[in-house]
Formats: sequence, C-alpha cells, structure tokens
Amino acid sequence: MADRATNLIRGTKYEQYLQVRADIKDFRDKNKLDKVIVLWTANTERFCEVRAGVHDTSENIERALRDNNSEISPSTIFALAAIDENCIYINGSPQNTLVAGVVERAEARGVFVAGDDFKSGQTKLKSVLVDFLVSAGLKPVSIVSYNHLGNNDGKNLSAPKQFRSKEITKSNVVDDMVESNQILYKPGEKPDHVVVIKYVPYVGDSKRAMDEYTSEILLHGTNTIVVHNTCEDSLLAVPLILDLVLLADLFSRLAFRETDNSYVRLHAVLSPLAYLLKAPLVASGAPVVNALFKQRANIDNLLRAALALPPNNNLGLEHKVPFLMKELHSGALFNSPPNKKQKLTHENGDK
Ligand SMILES: NC(=O)c1ccc[n+]([C@@H]2O[C@H](COP(=O)([O-])OP(=O)(O)OC[C@H]3O[C@@H](n4cnc5c(N)ncnc54)[C@H](O)[C@@H]3O)[C@@H](O)[C@H]2O)c1
Repeated sequence: MADRATNLIRGTKYEQYLQVRADIKDFRDKNKLDKVIVLWTANTERFCEVRAGVHDTSENIERALRDNNSEISPSTIFALAAIDENCIYINGSPQNTLVAGVVERAEARGVFVAGDDFKSGQTKLKSVLVDFLVSAGLKPVSIVSYNHLGNNDGKNLSAPKQFRSKEITKSNVVDDMVESNQILYKPGEKPDHVVVIKYVPYVGDSKRAMDEYTSEILLHGTNTIVVHNTCEDSLLAVPLILDLVLLADLFSRLAFRETDNSYVRLHAVLSPLAYLLKAPLVASGAPVVNALFKQRANIDNLLRAALALPPNNNLGLEHKVPFLMKELHSGALFNSPPNKKQKLTHENGDK
C-alpha cells in the first residue's frame, strides 16, 4: 500500500462530494445493505481555519462547498456526503471535521455524528491516571508525554500542521478533571502539559509512549510516576473501530418516550461514544467528560436503561444497612409490592 493517497477523487470539492455520495449509495445497493456507517480512519489532516459565514451553519457550509472553498477539508466532504446519504459519520482522527455547520446539518437530517480521534494508548491511560490523581488529592502539576512511532501515521504527524491537530486532542484530555477539583486548583490554574511526537521508522507500529506525571503532595513534597508503554498501534485501534460502529448503531436505535407518548432519539452528537474517543464531541453547551471510568459507566447505564434496569450507582446499601442486609438475605428485597393493576385483576378474577 502506498504511504500517500494515490487513488484520488478528482474535480471540485462539490464534485468530490457528489462522487463520495455516489460511492456510498453504490456500496449500499451492491451489498443490499439497510444501513451504512462511515468512519474516517484516513490520515490526520491539519485543522481547518474555522470562519464565520463558512463553517457556522449548514447553509453556509453547503455554499462554501459549492464555491470550492479551500477551508473545507476532505474529511468534511466525507462527513457531508455521509450525512446527506443518511449514514452515521464517526471521526477517528483528531482534526476538526465536525464543525458547527456539519453538526447542524446532522441534527436537521436526523443523522448521528461522533468524534474525535480514537482513544487507544497513551491518552486512555492518561484519562485514568489523572482522574485517579486529582480525585485522590494528589495535585498533578506537570504532565509530559513523549511518543515515537514508525508507521505511516507517524510519518504524517511529523508535518507540523498535522502534529498540531494531534497535540490539541491529546492536550485537552485533563482539563475537565483539573476543573473538577477547585480545592486543588485555583480558577484558571492548570498543570504544565506537554506532548511530543517523533517519527522513528525502525519501531514501526510498536509506538512507544513515555509519560512523566509529577504531583504535589503533603508538606510540599512531590510524587512522580513514570510510565513506559509499548502500544501496538493498529492492534489497539482496530477493536475501537469495531466498538465505535457497533455502539453507534445500537445507540442510534434508542428512543425515549415523551409525556405525549411520542418517541425521541438521542441528540445527533453521539457523546456516549466518548469512552472510545480522545477529544469527545458533545452537543453545544453540554459538559465534556474525559475521565475513562465515568465514560464507561455512562455506556453501562445507557445499556441498563435500554433493558429497563436502574442505573448502577455503586451505593451498595444492601451490603451496608442492617435492615436492607436482612431483606437481601431473606429474599424480601426482591419482592416488589403488588401494583394496582395486579390487585384489580385479582379482585375481579371471577369476572
Ligand atoms: N492507534 C491508532 O492507530 C490510532 C489512534 C488514534 C487515532 N488514529 C488516527 O487514525 C488515522 C489513521 O491512522 P493509520 O495509522 O491507519 O494511518 P495510515 O497512514 O496507515 O493510513 C491512512 C490511510 O488514509 C489514506 N488517506 C489519506 N488521505 C485520504 C483521503 N483524503 N481520503 C481517503 N483516504 C485517505 C492513506 O492513503 C492511507 O492509506 C490517523 O488520523 C491517526 O491519527 C490512529
């Protein structure tokens, strides 16, 4: 396989969009599929320069596409084509494909989108470690992450603008955890957080991730954790791709009954997929959660809700409060009180 894209779609951006739409349709028809999910796992692009009047609304982005505007990225062309073909679109790369106009279009068409960037190795561990440190009262003050890798992604990321896209998604991951503890951090205070990525062809897909976490502890002491992780880059990413597609399909089927008995689906931005993504995209105004186990609990509880089970809140009172413990052991805890309907049927049994 060539390390640079060789099978190019030619023409203007609008012609490329039409071609991608035709390709999706053709793929769906030839394979007799009910549903197609489009997931971007092509090279990291540079961030597009988000401009008012270009990226902000669905109408403006369509105009910019027709005008062949240079700030409409290839991945955004794919996103627009997928949405217009009624296909869920997932961005597995760091760049800002899903600009406001794309999200607005997805909402208007009733299509789901999710992003950004697979959370496979270093960031996954970071979203566990920093959550642990901050919630344990150990104040991370310096987080330094080095990576070197030798696959084609590494080669691509050695270009400064593409590296910048990755640097942004990798850097924001600790923000919400830091902001969650206002005892440790003053408003606006953040740990020093540095991310370095280098291309070293020899190591190939065995990406090395080296992190140093320094935290302030009791009596101005410091605690330093150093991690060396050999991530098999592609082997970590492939299961995420499968899970993203499967969960996106499942969550696209969930519906919630409103008081008037009509059903509504989840918001177009599928934020429950955050567990698998480095820089989770959320609906405008919604909080971003990066902590891995909160993200995982969110998926668990959504699946429980789909089975009409209550959320797992880890209270475990049935193992802590004596009368509940007794009820648990006697089985009484599981005897739900008869509801009114059952009682009526019983009373009117002969009728
Ligand atoms: N662990 C991981 O592998 C991992 C983790 C997080 C994110 N990612 C992201 O996933 C993406 C893919 O990573 P990879 O290692 O597979 O990269 P890769 O370079 O091996 O493969 C990318 C492919 O995309 C193709 N491509 C480039 N531009 C394209 C375009 N405009 N349209 C269609 N195809 C195009 C290239 O020809 C190449 O075959 C990167 O953005 C990477 O940062 C990967």
